[in-house]
Amino acid sequence: MRRITERLGGLAFGGDYNPEQWDEQVWKEDDLLMRQAGVNLATVGVFSWALLEPQQGRFDFAWLDAHLDRLHANGVAVDLATPTASPPPWFTLAHPDAMPVTADGTRLTHGSRDTYCLAAPGYRQAARRIAAALAERYGAHPAVAMWHVHNEYATVCYCEHAAAAFRDWLRARYGTLDALNAAWGTAFWSQRYGAWEQVLPPRATQWHHNPGHTLDYRRFWSDEALAAYREQRDAIRDHSALPVTTNLMLPGYQVLDLWKFGAEVDFVGIDHYPDAPGIDAAADTAFGADRARSFGGGKPWLLIEQGTNTVYSPSGTLPKEPGDILRHSLGHIGRGSEGALFFQWRQSRAGAELWHSAIVPHAGPDTRIFREAAATGAAVAGLGELAGSRVHAEVAVLHDADVWWALDTRGLPQVDYHAALRRAHRALWDAGVTADFAHPEHDLSRYRLVVAPSLYLLSDAGAASLRRYVEGGGTLLVQHFSGAVDGSHQARLGGYPGPLREVLGLRVEEYRPLGAGELLTLSDGSSVEGWSELLRAEGAEVVATYTSGVMDRQPALTRHRFGGGTGWYASTRLDDAGYAALIGRVLGESGADPVLAGLPAGVEAVRRSSPDGGSRSWLFLLNHGTEPVEVAVQGYDLLTAVDVGPAGLTLPARGAAVLRQG
Ligand code: GLA
Repeated sequence: MRRITERLGGLAFGGDYNPEQWDEQVWKEDDLLMRQAGVNLATVGVFSWALLEPQQGRFDFAWLDAHLDRLHANGVAVDLATPTASPPPWFTLAHPDAMPVTADGTRLTHGSRDTYCLAAPGYRQAARRIAAALAERYGAHPAVAMWHVHNEYATVCYCEHAAAAFRDWLRARYGTLDALNAAWGTAFWSQRYGAWEQVLPPRATQWHHNPGHTLDYRRFWSDEALAAYREQRDAIRDHSALPVTTNLMLPGYQVLDLWKFGAEVDFVGIDHYPDAPGIDAAADTAFGADRARSFGGGKPWLLIEQGTNTVYSPSGTLPKEPGDILRHSLGHIGRGSEGALFFQWRQSRAGAELWHSAIVPHAGPDTRIFREAAATGAAVAGLGELAGSRVHAEVAVLHDADVWWALDTRGLPQVDYHAALRRAHRALWDAGVTADFAHPEHDLSRYRLVVAPSLYLLSDAGAASLRRYVEGGGTLLVQHFSGAVDGSHQARLGGYPGPLREVLGLRVEEYRPLGAGELLTLSDGSSVEGWSELLRAEGAEVVATYTSGVMDRQPALTRHRFGGGTGWYASTRLDDAGYAALIGRVLGESGADPVLAGLPAGVEAVRRSSPDGGSRSWLFLLNHGTEPVEVAVQGYDLLTAVDVGPAGLTLPARGAAVLRQG
């Protein structure tokens, strides 16, 4: 990424560019408007397979040559994509066995995108071939600044190729069928496997699947996607030394183990589309950005896609509000993104996504959207000195794909892991504290506070890591339904949360999910819903008890000194005020500070610091509210080129500032 920002002379700004959907007159206008909007990086070729390889093995690069030359002449660098997320129709006919099969046995066909089986040899070979051909042709093209493999790996398949690859994966993991039978607990419901050929993907079946089986299938599929990514990456590296990455999907999709992807990409790339308007969009932006920063374990990252004007809420597509284009872009950049890219440059006239937003909308450049996007381009151009700077967090929220997948199993009591992660992050965001995400098995010692929302599955290694963290002086907050099963999805015996009992000084003997609408009260005045647990303090101090129902007088919140640190446990889902108070208390006890104390609600602060240990830093202030706000800060505002002195700053309604300090 460093090489990219050096080459761009600052942060990246631009987006997906699909010139093949337009004609020469529009390309000329694109050149002009890209200059006006400050575009310096365009993602090209994401969905161009059918044009690049119109027949199997016959390539046509002339049209792409012309666009890359034109972009280069116009001062726009290229993020060149491999088009493998959308195989052309000829591919289906040549490789019918590479079309994906759903869990209920339906074989899909072309007509949309993402229609391929990642485990099918025909697909893998074709993907490698087009990636290698592109890299060979454009590895030395002066326009190309980076490689973008595929688009949002997500399709899951249950076909015979997938079954064969799954069995290979299982053989490598377990060695023997006995070990597999033991791990999956196949003694239950007479599921014992007597030969490898009997093991299938978890296809449609009569009732609940074996949870060890489904968990391993999701692990396997993520590894399969990673293998497919690596093959393309390596094919590119044979011809080019430029950085290679892929664009990871929105936070709500969990097909991949993003920690593993983070380890294999040269830098992390994400797509992010908020799922609610207003302040919730800002919080969701911070959630997506903090994840992206974390998955690379210190690598730089880049926002590869966002919408200019769309929020995908569960109730449908909603428009963004004025000022959101800038604040959402800065929301990502403030949390470490080395730029802000959009999907897409020009809104399509035809095709499945003709209503997705773009920098140049259907109505053309004389629009609020284009003007706001161009103003954002100018703002990003003024932030070049931030390239390479870092975000430092004192708090981490634990995030583990295994937990997500394990909780996403039919037949379990319902706990929504994604919602639990977002809630924890949101409470920290509301408190003005920057949070990383971390895997339970990581070294956590640099964090003052670690929050573990519903860590249902906890491996022995994860438990040992959390124990070390608390022993070493850390503050750990573990939330309900944690440590219930081990890495094979087998219940922890003797009381939950299994190997964390000693750290937390307690023993949970029974989970008591609450019915819809059923509220209990706690002695600290909060009410709780969804979940309760019958637990015994075994050394822990009881901070609050249940005060209603059959749980009356039983411990609800506990705190335990262990080694040099403290282990907190919340056995239930607190209401918003109660959860905010608990987060406030553990933050205070751990000594983790907000970025800027005393900010009114709706004003976000986040800081990037120079890599030399922070001799210089840049404070991002984002006012998501509709009233101007006075903030007592000083520094040089890169957005307005104004020196903010001792009188402080007036942050306009829906406005932003980026103050250089030091
Ligand atoms: C995704 C995809 C893009 C496009 C956008 C639409 O993130 O990567 O191809 O479909 O969403 O918003």
